[in-house]
Formats: sequence, C-alpha cells, structure tokens
Amino acid sequence: MLVSFKEILSDAYKNKYAVGAFNCLGIENVLGAIQAAEELKSPIILQLAEVQFPYAPIELMAPVFLEAARNAAVPVSVHLDHGQSFYTCAKAIKLGFNSVMIDSSSLPLLENVAATREVVKMANAFGVCVEAELGKVGDTGEGIGETGCSEMSADVFTDVEESAFFIEQTRVDALAVAIGNLHGKYIHTPQLNTLRVKEIKEKNNIPLVLHGGSGTSVSDFKACIHNGISKINVATAIQMGITAKIQEYLKTASSPNYIEMKYKMVEASKEVVADHIRLFESAGRY
Ligand code: 13P
Repeated sequence: MLVSFKEILSDAYKNKYAVGAFNCLGIENVLGAIQAAEELKSPIILQLAEVQFPYAPIELMAPVFLEAARNAAVPVSVHLDHGQSFYTCAKAIKLGFNSVMIDSSSLPLLENVAATREVVKMANAFGVCVEAELGKVGDTGEGIGETGCSEMSADVFTDVEESAFFIEQTRVDALAVAIGNLHGKYIHTPQLNTLRVKEIKEKNNIPLVLHGGSGTSVSDFKACIHNGISKINVATAIQMGITAKIQEYLKTASSPNYIEMKYKMVEASKEVVADHIRLFESAGRY
C-alpha cells in the first residue's frame, strides 16, 4: 500500500529501527525490493535520485514505483532522492512522489536554509514531506582512490548546533546527516561518527537519515539505528549484487538469454534488499 513518508518514518523513529530506502533504476529492482519487503513484512521506501534520471527517467519510473507501492502488501512510500532544485522537487510531486529530498547541502548554511524552506512551503501545500541535508556526504567516485572517514575533515560533518537551527528554520520532516559516510563503493570500511548521531538526535526530535548505506560495518549500522537514524539509503549494494549475479550467470549458463537475466536481476535485488531489511531491524514491523 502507498503510505506517506511521515507515517513510515514516525513508526521507525518511535520504535528505534531504520527503514531501508532503496534506489531502484529499473522494473527488476522494484520487483525484487517489493518481494523482499513483503516476505519480511517490512515497510520500505522506493526512491530515485536526480543524478539517476538520465538512465531511469522519472516520468517513466514514477508510474512503476506508484503502481508497485499501491499493490504491495506492506507500507511503501515513493521518494525523490537528492533533488537538486525547486523545479525537480515540484516535478516529482506532480508525478505523485509522496516525499522529496531537496539537497542544497553544498550551499552555505543560510542559503541551504532558504532553498530548503521554499521547497518545504511548496511541498507541504500538497501534503508532501521533505528531507534535506546538512553537512556534506561525499562520494567515493565508485572506488577510485583511497576513501573513507579518515579523508573527511570534521568540518564537513553535520554540526549539532547548526542542526537545531536548520530544523527550526526549515521545518523539514527528516534530516540527512554527514558523519563520515560516503556515497558509492568504499575502499575501506568507514568508521562513522555515531556519537554525532546521538548528539544530533538529543538536540532534535525528527527522524535522521543515513546516506551511503552500502558497505558500512554491522556495528556502525547498529549504533546509528539505535541512536536516531530512522532511514538508510542503499544504492550501490544493489548494483553490485546484480552485477555479480549476472557475471556468475554468464559464466555458467550454457545458452544465456535476456529473460533469464531479467529474473536474475530481480533475484539479486531481492537478496540485497532482504539483507538490508534484516540488518536495519525493520523485518516484521508490519
Ligand atoms: P550508496 O550508493 O552508497 O548505497 O548510497 C545511496 C544513497 O545514499 C542514495 O542517496
């Protein structure tokens, strides 16, 4: 069933687990994610980031996400990930997404506040929730060079005092934090600043979001979840899972064919999503 972001996140927030938000770039990803969520009786968020539009156009993906969500036996919300402008957020809302992220985290604080407020005002008029980001979650560049927490300087981490100011000024529904997490494939397992999550949580009372949810250690995931992270974004792990499954299939199949490959993609998506649902403690929550 299609359920609001607020409803899904408030249950996670109250009961101290995290909902997985899975970036789905094709029908196979959506089918696998929904199957995993239904089997494990877990709420789930389907999402698409603006940088992914060139190969997963939002106009085509929106009806797929929405129909899959409506038909699912578990709560599903449909979210725009890393919207880069007011225009993109408005477009996603018009297409039926029931929450949007405006990512103005590269701007100075007051400009981030101003850009986020504009989106919140517009989105709330349509009953749509907003996630924003404070601090800077970097990108590994898909495994190029040595990356990880050690390379991130403390000044890109989300500041506790600023988080209170930002939330009070913008009235966002969820805040993505930077605590040493990066998008993409880590070369080394990162060491997240989970104490910072706790401090931000103690200062504020809204759900917090962890981006870059592929490749983090189990202990860091657990520390994040138990200290205030209510949504965790996962993209790279799904792509790696599918690639590995297809490589294996092509190595072993006597006469490989496209339909079989599509099934393999669904299977791999389902496995990766299921692993993360269990890890995030959202299994059995519905
Ligand atoms: P990963 O690609 O590292 O899983 O990050 C996903 C993400 O945070 C999307 O916003």
